Amino acid sequence: MADQHQLLVDGAWVDPAAGEHFDTVDPATGEVLASVAAAGADDVDRAVTAARRAFDGGAWGLAVPERERAEKLFALATLLRRDVDELARLETLDCGKPLEDARWDVEEAAFMFEYYAGWATKITGDIPPVGPEALSLVVKEPVGVCGLIVPWNYPLLMACQKVAPALAAGCTVVLKPAEQTPLTALALGRLSIEAGLPPGVLNVVTGTGPAAGEPLVTHRGVDKISFTGSKAVGQHIMRLCADDLKRVTLELGGKSPNIVFADADLSEAVPGTALGIFGNQGEVCSAGSRIFVERSVYDDVLGGLVDEARAVTLGSGLDPDVTMGPLVSALQRERVEGYIGLGKQQGARLAYEGTRPDHPALAGGFFVPPTVFETDSLDLTIAREEIFGPVATVVPFDDVDQVTRMANDTEYGLAAAIWTRDIGKAFAAAKAVRAGVVWVNDSQPAPSEASWGGFKQSGIGRELGPYGLEAFLESKQIYVKLA
Ligand code: NAI
Ligand code: MG
Repeated sequence: MADQHQLLVDGAWVDPAAGEHFDTVDPATGEVLASVAAAGADDVDRAVTAARRAFDGGAWGLAVPERERAEKLFALATLLRRDVDELARLETLDCGKPLEDARWDVEEAAFMFEYYAGWATKITGDIPPVGPEALSLVVKEPVGVCGLIVPWNYPLLMACQKVAPALAAGCTVVLKPAEQTPLTALALGRLSIEAGLPPGVLNVVTGTGPAAGEPLVTHRGVDKISFTGSKAVGQHIMRLCADDLKRVTLELGGKSPNIVFADADLSEAVPGTALGIFGNQGEVCSAGSRIFVERSVYDDVLGGLVDEARAVTLGSGLDPDVTMGPLVSALQRERVEGYIGLGKQQGARLAYEGTRPDHPALAGGFFVPPTVFETDSLDLTIAREEIFGPVATVVPFDDVDQVTRMANDTEYGLAAAIWTRDIGKAFAAAKAVRAGVVWVNDSQPAPSEASWGGFKQSGIGRELGPYGLEAFLESKQIYVKLA
């Protein structure tokens, strides 16, 4: 029988109140990996109560010396590094991505704890001038108890992207991983105990969005929700948070432009463009899914992209030769196949469509091969909606004004990639594109020290770097009359 997992509440592993469980599967085979506790409102309430007690009672937050917070986070980073092989394997099994990619995720997750552990001792305020007769101190305090709701495309990384800055800021947290990929969040919970985090500081509740996520969003004991996922759920969460004016950070979808100018180094631009849409199976919020190519190099770039797609080896992420794994779930495969169908139906030209792996062991897997469409029309559904799969839409352009207009013709604004050798053109385009992240001659790097988040309907707020820390802090002004 598969392992059965519990919930981490107040430093202890507990069964869900209603005694219910659900399965998480290996998307490469469809086989059950483990049985996971299905938390409901009662479990969430227990977790929030524990987090509240840890925060208000002095186990964490302002009552704990900053150094001590830093030490615990460094200890957790060390444990993540110790277990990198095991965690990477678990991540690949649960979400499908190639093992090498999963390994990178775990290493970056460890770095995130190191990075924010460093910040824990460096959170300072300001002393604004308020005249000779008073002293004004603006100090930073943790926002309180935070509900962290994360998706399945980078399960551990997305969790740590929120947990590390939240704990560094002095917040206590309830982490709700995606129901498709709960296993590495549970592993993080186990390591947090080993690292000596006090009970209640990090709680992990597994379960579905409606049953476990929503009670966390509406709980009056929660001060802030940080969410990464779909735009629809982000909108719903924001509406719910309005009821008690909970703070909210949202990292949502994208339909990011990838612009290849004729003067680009195509030996870099073509593989970079391919990585931008095929990397992580295309299950990436910042995927460069709208590929704009200057007409004079259009055939070369399209041909190169099709070659890259043809070179993809689809299969189990555990196989070292595999460069693209399955999508996370049958539902996600259905959604992506639906978009491929719509692309054909609405008249996009199909430049390449790969084939599914034929190994019998993978017959039950959720594979969608890389697909490349061409179109002149940004009105097609595949050119407007986030697909979240390995489906590229390639569009020709003639000049800079036209391509910046097309790049911005979207409700989203998460990221953009610009390929050119002309530094002036690169900066002009980088300024003109309305997106939270712009890459020049690269695609997808997201250094933890920098900044991440969207313009427009791609979200609210920023993660990573000092901005990600700020999201878990409140300012308090202390005004002292001197005279
Ligand atoms: P989702 O937005 O439903 O799931 C993300 C997280 O939100 C999961 O932990 C889920 O349990 C939770 N959730 C769902 N409903 C909730 C509710 N009512 N209250 C609180 N929490 C809730 O995303 P889903 O359905 O897995 O994927 C759908 C689409 O969303 C994808 O095709 C993709 O376009 C987009 N997406 C974007 C991501 C990103 O990185 N920005 C990540 C995952 C999905
Ligand atoms: Mg799974």
